[in-house]
Amino acid sequence: MAELIDGKRVAEDVVRRVKALTAELLERGTQKPGLAVVIVGEDPASQVYVASKSRTAKECGFHSVQHTLPAEISEQELLDIIGELNADPAINGILVQLPLPGHVDAGKVIQTIAPQKDVDGFHFINVGKLGTGELETAFVPCTPAGSMLLIERVRGKDLSGLNAVVVGRSNIVGKPMANLLLAANCTVTIAHSRTKDLAALARTADILVAAVGRPEMVRGDWVKSGATVIDVGINRIAAPEKGEGKTRLVGDVAYAEAAKTAGAITPVPGGVGPMTIAMLMANTLASAYLAAG
Ligand code: GUN
Repeated sequence: MAELIDGKRVAEDVVRRVKALTAELLERGTQKPGLAVVIVGEDPASQVYVASKSRTAKECGFHSVQHTLPAEISEQELLDIIGELNADPAINGILVQLPLPGHVDAGKVIQTIAPQKDVDGFHFINVGKLGTGELETAFVPCTPAGSMLLIERVRGKDLSGLNAVVVGRSNIVGKPMANLLLAANCTVTIAHSRTKDLAALARTADILVAAVGRPEMVRGDWVKSGATVIDVGINRIAAPEKGEGKTRLVGDVAYAEAAKTAGAITPVPGGVGPMTIAMLMANTLASAYLAAG
């Protein structure tokens, strides 16, 4: 059976370190790191994530502000709020929770965030830095950054020459994940909905990352013996066995099957999810350090 990768524990380690470094920053007389989280509309999953981000920021000792905006807000009003946060010296990190309502151009909103406060790592400047290997000064998107940390916990820092397959090509996870693995000298393949014989490709992977948003799509026989499996999916599915109308969370990987073959695997929940929030804290702290000079 595979080793279970305890993302919750690693995330707690990261948050503990962020907390300690924040205390050090304050002792030097520097202002608290400031994180602004912006949520538009009432998507229940987004509300849960955002509440968790704001709560963890407070736990780290940050100045934490949340802007909860109505779904009908105009694009211009939202851009104006971001402009104010860009100019606010108490704010080091700005996160606009996605998805945004259809009448708002999410791309335009993201590109309005000042790159040096873009703790999500979605601005072209940060995407470009990651793509060109400027990892020292880039903000790296939180979910792939957290996934890398988990991979390094299992395989060590030297991933050179390993075959990595990333299933999913989103800007939030798939593409930045592939870039991080490439920067770590893996041989990287990005697979997606048009990929031919995905199962056979997945079986070549020493590191298999699933980020497609399709419940339990990656089956046990897609997994090479001893592979490290990182499941980024968080899918809510019906669970009639728990009673009528009940649901449960599953990943993009059929966990019970995959755990028989994998060397190590992240569970859902308790794997990548907590790492996303922890890395947001690390990015915000890094931004505060950079601002402090
Ligand atoms: N929605 C789903 N994941 C993310 C994320 O990492 N950042 C933001 N801003 N929105 C998201």
